[in-house]
Amino acid sequence: MRDTIRFLFGEEERAIRNPVPTRTVLQWLREDERACGTKEGCAEGDCGACTVVLGEHAGARVRYRAVNACILFLPALDGKQLLTVEHLRAPDGTLHPVQRAMVEQHGAQCGFCTPGFVMSLFALYHAGSGGARAAANEALAGNLCRCTGYRPILDAARIACDGAPADQFAAAGAATAERLRGLEADTMLVAECDGQRFLAPRSTAELAEALTVYPRATLLAGGTDVGLWVTKQHLRLDTVIAVERVAGLAEIAERNGVLSIGAGATYEDAFATLARHWPSFGPLLRRLGSRQIRNRGTIGGNIANASPIGDMPPALIALNATLVLRSAAGERRMAAEDFFRGYRQTALAPGEFLSRIEIPLPSRGEMFATYKVSKRIDQDISAVCGAFRLRLDGGRVADIRIAYGGMAAVPKRVIAAEQVLGGRHWSRAAVTAGMAALDAELTPISDMRASAAYRRMVARNLLLRFLLETAPADDAPVRLREPEESPA
Ligand SMILES: Cc1cc2nc3c(=O)[nH]c(=O)nc-3n(C[C@H](O)[C@H](O)[C@H](O)COP(=O)(O)OP(=O)(O)OC[C@H]3O[C@@H](n4cnc5c(N)ncnc54)[C@H](O)[C@@H]3O)c2cc1C
Ligand code: FES
Ligand code: FES
Repeated sequence: MRDTIRFLFGEEERAIRNPVPTRTVLQWLREDERACGTKEGCAEGDCGACTVVLGEHAGARVRYRAVNACILFLPALDGKQLLTVEHLRAPDGTLHPVQRAMVEQHGAQCGFCTPGFVMSLFALYHAGSGGARAAANEALAGNLCRCTGYRPILDAARIACDGAPADQFAAAGAATAERLRGLEADTMLVAECDGQRFLAPRSTAELAEALTVYPRATLLAGGTDVGLWVTKQHLRLDTVIAVERVAGLAEIAERNGVLSIGAGATYEDAFATLARHWPSFGPLLRRLGSRQIRNRGTIGGNIANASPIGDMPPALIALNATLVLRSAAGERRMAAEDFFRGYRQTALAPGEFLSRIEIPLPSRGEMFATYKVSKRIDQDISAVCGAFRLRLDGGRVADIRIAYGGMAAVPKRVIAAEQVLGGRHWSRAAVTAGMAALDAELTPISDMRASAAYRRMVARNLLLRFLLETAPADDAPVRLREPEESPA
């Protein structure tokens, strides 16, 4: 066991003994290091003013990812490189190409958001995907600017990132990767400060053991939900057990017709595989939080957080996913839909953690779609999220699974609607009957995201949309809004 984290701050190696478990990287930067380039706007992962970049070794190079320092706890730096806007200039004072492009394209006015934009652009520069509009929009969706307007910033992205030549960080990549490998510890981190405890087990056995000793501990994955409990709700977390370093917990593998996703896999890590098997995950994940959130947020965290408006549970329920829960006593398995027991309540017993998610790979002819409806395209939480999986046999519904988020206290499978549709010709008439069954089973509330009436209308129309996208053309045209309803 060890009580000290070690990381690179720029090029400088740092060690912090017994770091405060829930002190944020932003607080550490601004208050301890006086590195005030990194700003605090919202302290909840929304505005991007606090964006910094984390480097992790990936073979002989370093993989750079933008993250929100305001909701990142200090111990998460262990074994990584932390880069802030202060690190980007070359030793001779030359600006980094992304900084130079921001200056030359007039990408800043008051400058408050600028370091965050620069760090997101730095990560884009190193992603190698260029600075075309779509890539830049995606990389910058988590950065807000209230005064410049985005056109000059997008110009800067294109000019700096298109055909980006190797910078000093790429040139030092192999050496930095080697230094990061040298910082890796193979023992569990156990840090204590002011009565707070932080444990970072290295294996599932250590994790299970730690949870046996501290069954009431808070499990921490990417911290994109837990971080806000501290920065917004001001909760004191006495014992935090981080899962990020647990070997194998982020593994993504295909075996025997099943896709297994470790609970600790981030959205960015799982994106390509999910979108390859089920293309509808592409647009969904593209709109889940921002690039900074997806770089840290995990699929396991989204499930265990058990929010009724989380984006992954409806899709996983529709895909008939199985959740594998683990504790010192062993493993148990359950259908995703049985995991959610009430508003933010789960089937996890004390001492148990979510180990992996198993999704049957699509069979031939299987159709799947998941749709997110929110007020904004980017960086917004769903008002309603619907997911549908369908198999037809001779034009009739051989198998259908339907699930919604935002329509009840839990992510909900709508079995009554599935039963109404089962065996029927996949047509407007069948879907109209299915819509009525939805109404009977779903119990949405009105809140700041949408009224209950609007949610009901959207839930029905998403089923209709699924029909329009999957049925033979002669079932069109249809009305997308029911005449008796008025929008919320
Ligand atoms: C700005 C912003 C935008 C967001 N946008 C979206 C969005 O569009 N859609 C959406 O669905 N969510 C969104 N979220 C919420 C959040 O990003 C997701 O829920 C994310 O998947 C949480 O994962 P995490 O790894 O960060 O979890 P954490 O915050 O680390 O943990 C979340 C919960 O899961 C528990 N937990 C974590 N791992 C395990 C495990 N292996 N076993 C058991 N329990 C575990 C934790 O104890 C905690 O209760 C957003 C959050 C922010 C801050
Ligand atoms: S301060 Fe707004 S995202 Fe961190
Ligand atoms: S330059 Fe002022 S907020 Fe962006």
